Amino acid sequence: MYSFVVEIHMQGNSLLIGVYVLLHVFVSQLALGIRMENGSPLASPSNNISVLDCGAVGDGLKDDSLAFSKAWEAVCAIIGETPTLTIPDGPFLLTPVSFQGPCNASSIHVQIQGKLVAPENPETWKNCTDNTWIRFSGIDNLILDGSGEINGKGANWWHSANLSFGDNNFDTNSTALQLLSCNGLQLKDLTHVDSPNGHISIVSCNNATISNLHIVAPENSPNTDGIDISSSTQVQISDSIIETGDDCIAIGSGTSQLNITGITCGPGHGISVGSLGRDGETAQVEQIHVRNCTFNGSTNGARIKTWQGGSGYARNITFEDIPLINVENPIIIDQYYCNPGQTCAAQKSAVAIEGITYKGFQGTSASAAAISLNCSSTVACTGITMESINITASNPSDKAFGICINAKGTEDLVVPRVPCFVV
Ligand SMILES: *[C@@H]1O[C@H](CO)[C@@H](O)[C@H](O)[C@H]1NC(C)=O
Ligand SMILES: *[C@@H]1O[C@H](CO)[C@@H](O)[C@H](O)[C@H]1NC(C)=O
Ligand SMILES: *[C@@H]1O[C@H](CO)[C@@H](O)[C@H](O)[C@H]1NC(C)=O
Ligand SMILES: *[C@@H]1O[C@H](CO)[C@@H](O)[C@H](O)[C@H]1NC(C)=O
Ligand SMILES: *[C@@H]1O[C@H](CO)[C@@H](O)[C@H](O)[C@H]1NC(C)=O
Ligand SMILES: *[C@@H]1O[C@H](CO)[C@@H](O)[C@H](O)[C@H]1NC(C)=O
Ligand SMILES: *[C@@H]1O[C@H](CO)[C@@H](O)[C@H](O)[C@H]1NC(C)=O
Ligand SMILES: *[C@@H]1O[C@H](CO)[C@@H](O)[C@H](O)[C@H]1NC(C)=O
Ligand SMILES: *[C@@H]1O[C@H](CO)[C@@H](O)[C@H](O)[C@H]1NC(C)=O
Ligand SMILES: *[C@@H]1O[C@H](CO)[C@@H](O)[C@H](O)[C@H]1NC(C)=O
Ligand SMILES: *[C@@H]1O[C@H](CO)[C@@H](O)[C@H](O)[C@H]1NC(C)=O
Repeated sequence: MYSFVVEIHMQGNSLLIGVYVLLHVFVSQLALGIRMENGSPLASPSNNISVLDCGAVGDGLKDDSLAFSKAWEAVCAIIGETPTLTIPDGPFLLTPVSFQGPCNASSIHVQIQGKLVAPENPETWKNCTDNTWIRFSGIDNLILDGSGEINGKGANWWHSANLSFGDNNFDTNSTALQLLSCNGLQLKDLTHVDSPNGHISIVSCNNATISNLHIVAPENSPNTDGIDISSSTQVQISDSIIETGDDCIAIGSGTSQLNITGITCGPGHGISVGSLGRDGETAQVEQIHVRNCTFNGSTNGARIKTWQGGSGYARNITFEDIPLINVENPIIIDQYYCNPGQTCAAQKSAVAIEGITYKGFQGTSASAAAISLNCSSTVACTGITMESINITASNPSDKAFGICINAKGTEDLVVPRVPCFVV
């Protein structure tokens, strides 16, 4: 601003134009200032703040995180009904950024029309207190939607030598988008691409609906879970396509009353409860209902995995109406879960698995072991119900079979048979 004023003094002729421009800039900033400080009850556009109003450039090169934070502060301060933060086309380059509540309005709408991109160099993330790229926390009734894309540019991470490969890490902080401590969240319509680790994590949320997402990363990208959910209750995930290199959905401890419907999963590692009980964790997962989900070319379908040495329970879990296309392990319980390639010492305690229903599975298994229930010799799986299941081997020369250890339950119209349930 100072250099601008100096320029006016030096060019006497254009003084009038200069003053006009100066005034115009000043008035615009004043208007923005008012908008940002109080909200404007008269002009409805002030309820809808674009990140461009707050200095974002959207060229994919300049770091726009500070502008996003300013825009968030402005929107969060608005007193009124559902103010909107608009993110237009972009692409907007963001380094790790955190949007914090509570806000003045009882609901906030964040509309992503364009593309958000992460820095391609993992070094840029290394100074962060944790590995979350975009975090929304403590915000009630957040509506996060739009036709836009959240692109984690994960390729350089996947190739970094110091990453652990395999589907073993349930680290809800290593994520592109984290929704933390929320009530009444609606997350919908967006496309999530190439996260360094997990794409979306839902932590400590109540009453959330997640729908119509497309989550996509290469089949061989390590640890790229679609949606991780933990410490959350009353959550509905529906009508989404998830194709990644790890779990399509992973359900962690503290999750209850979760309904999952209309998901197409694959490539990916299936819809997994767990892993639970790692490092002696006391896990609690219950009332999980997975219905009308298709697994296509995934390594697992309905999976429950627990570590030895944990405690607590995974109970009252139903998987029903499940079409399978060439799935490696369509139904699998592993109470001896361990890092791939490692051996875990035998331990007596385990997370109890009880009251699990599998109903209406139809399709093909890429391996002959279509049903595998490997339950702990000290804490068996109990109350397993299987009904109307018909899984055949993809390879016509194989014959699908069921295998089980320490599993207690019943079956009705199940092909292949599960030896533990045969009376
Ligand atoms: C907010 O404004 C943008 C244009 O800047 C528009 O595209 C969008 O639909 C508006 N959103 C709402 C909720 O009014
Ligand atoms: C809520 O509005 C008040 C009054 O304008 C303001 O002082 C406060 O900073 C706002 N709160 C937030 C979280 O922005
Ligand atoms: C990370 O922090 C170190 C030490 O504070 C600093 O030297 C380095 O430049 C920072 N790296 C980035 C990418 O910000
Ligand atoms: C993960 O994030 C939560 C919430 O920000 C924090 O309390 C916790 O310490 C973080 N954990 C790790 C391992 O970074
Ligand atoms: C759940 O959240 C929705 C907004 O997504 C809200 O309309 C509804 O009142 C909430 N229900 C409860 C029981 O809090
Ligand atoms: C889950 O589905 C059950 C049965 O359809 C329903 O009663 C319950 O309200 C649903 N819960 C959520 C969080 O959608
Ligand atoms: C099952 O999910 C698909 C989306 O994958 C949806 O189109 C279909 O309507 C759902 N069917 C039922 C019976 O819910
Ligand atoms: C299992 O959860 C459902 C709701 O999802 C509930 O209706 C049912 O009573 C629960 N069953 C047991 C045995 O807890
Ligand atoms: C299964 O996935 C394959 C490979 O992506 C695709 O070509 C095929 O159309 C899918 N099948 C169904 C029924 O969606
Ligand atoms: C069950 O798990 C144990 C321990 O990892 C392993 O030795 C055994 O081969 C597994 N059994 C089956 C049937 O997968
Ligand atoms: C199981 O499915 C196969 C292939 O679709 C079919 O040929 C067979 O008749 C079915 N078996 C039963 C018992 O439904």
